Amino acid sequence: MSAHAAPVPMTARRAGPLRGEVRVPGDKSISHRSLILGALTVGETRVTGLLEGQDVLDTAEAMRAFGAEVVRTGEGAWTVHGVGVGGFAEPSRVIDCGNSGTGVRLIMGAMATSPITATFTGDASLVKRPMGRVTDPLALFGAHAYGRAGGRLPMTVVGAREPVPVRYTVPVPSAQVKSAVLLAGLNAPGETVVIEREATRDHTERMLAGFGAAISTEDTPEGRLIRLTGRPEFSPQTIAVPSDPSSAAFPVCAGLIVEGSEIVVRNIGQNPTRTGLFTTLVEMGADLALENLRDEAGEPVADIRVRFSPEMRGIEVPPERAPSMIDEYPILSVVAALSEGRTVMRGVKELRVKESDRIDTMARGLEACGVRVEEDEDTLIVHGMGPGGVPGGAVAATRLDHRIAMSFLCLGMAARAPVSVDDAAPIVTSFPVFEALMRGLGGEISRDPA
Ligand code: S3P
Repeated sequence: MSAHAAPVPMTARRAGPLRGEVRVPGDKSISHRSLILGALTVGETRVTGLLEGQDVLDTAEAMRAFGAEVVRTGEGAWTVHGVGVGGFAEPSRVIDCGNSGTGVRLIMGAMATSPITATFTGDASLVKRPMGRVTDPLALFGAHAYGRAGGRLPMTVVGAREPVPVRYTVPVPSAQVKSAVLLAGLNAPGETVVIEREATRDHTERMLAGFGAAISTEDTPEGRLIRLTGRPEFSPQTIAVPSDPSSAAFPVCAGLIVEGSEIVVRNIGQNPTRTGLFTTLVEMGADLALENLRDEAGEPVADIRVRFSPEMRGIEVPPERAPSMIDEYPILSVVAALSEGRTVMRGVKELRVKESDRIDTMARGLEACGVRVEEDEDTLIVHGMGPGGVPGGAVAATRLDHRIAMSFLCLGMAARAPVSVDDAAPIVTSFPVFEALMRGLGGEISRDPA
C-alpha cells in the first residue's frame, strides 16, 4: 500500500508510571511467512494471532494476486487456500509491498522459480532499499530481474522456466536473503544449499519443516549450512503466531526507563535468533524476568516482567549479537541515553539499509533531544545521561520508519521535556495498537495538529 498517508505528528510526555499486563501483536516475520507458505500449499492453512499491520496486509494482498485465496475470518484469524509449490499464477497487476522489505524480498524468492513474470513496487522508503542482494542469488536459479539503477524498485522479475538448485553463501547477515533463496529452492529440483556466516532469524527454516519440507541445518566451520530438498509435498498447517519480540521491545524498554513502572508483557517469542535485546538489557542492569517459558507452534515463548531500572549502565554490545537484535538498536539507543556511561554498538552497518538509515535517523533525533552520539559507517555510540537525564523538548524526524517513531515516543515518556515525532503514521506497518496499548499502561501520547 504505497498511497502516502498524511503525516501524523505525535508527542509523548513524562507522566505517571507505566503499569499493567499487555499482549503485543503477532510476530511480523512469522506472519509474512505463514501467508506465503500457506499460499504455496494446497488445502486450508489456518493462522491465528496474525499481525494485522499494513506490511502483512500487503503480503496477503500479494498472495491473492498470485492466485491464493486469503480470507480474514476473525480478529487475527485468517485462512489461506494455496496453489501448491510452483503453482503461482502470473499476477495481472503490480505487486505493491508498501513499506515492507521482508514482504517484497520473500515474495520475489517465492515466485522466482516459476515460469511467470511479476512487477514489484513499494513506498518512498522501500524504493530506496537494495534488492540486488536478493536478485543476485535468484539469478543463479535462472530468474532475471530488471529494476532501476542500484537494483531498486520498481522491478520486474521473470521467473526461471527451468530452475536449477543453487549453493549460495549469503554475503551479508540477512534472514530476508536467506529466506528468498530457500523459498526459490522450493521449486528447484534437487538440493538447494544456503550458507550463512552469522546465524540470522530461522523462522523460515522452522516453518518449512512444519509444512513438511526436507530441510536440515548444520553448524560448520564455514558457518550455518542449510540444506533444502526442492519440490516437497506440503501439507496445510495450523499456525499460532506468537507475539513479536521486536514490538514487545517498546513497552519493555519504556517500563525500564519510566520511573516507578512495572509491567508484564505476555506470550513473547523467545526464538534465540531474536532475543539479543533482552540479553543486552540484562547485561546493562535491567530488572527483567522471564516467566512461563513454553513452546507454541514450534517457537519458544515466555512472559516478561519488567520494572523501572534506574541502575542501568552502558555496555559494549558484542557485534556478533547484531543479527539477533537488528531491529532493536533504535529502542536500545533510547535506553542507552537514559543509562549511565557509554553504550557502544559496533557491527551495525545493516541499520543503514532498513526502513530508514537507522544510524543517521537515531543520531540526529537523539542529538536534537540533547544526547551526545558518535557514529561511523558501522558504529553508533550513545553517551548516557542517566535516568531522567535526557532534556528532550525536540521533534524527531521518522523518515517513514515505524521503529524510529516508536523509539522517540518512548523517549518522550522519560525525558524532561516532551518529545515529538513528525510522523507516527508508519507505526501501522508493524504495531497498529501501539498508541492505545501505551496509553492503557499509563503513557501520555497525544496527536498533534498536522
Ligand atoms: C526480517 C529480517 C530482518 C529484519 C526485518 C525482518 C525477516 O531483515 O530487519 O525487520 O522477517 O526476515 P534482514 O534480513 O534484511 O536483516
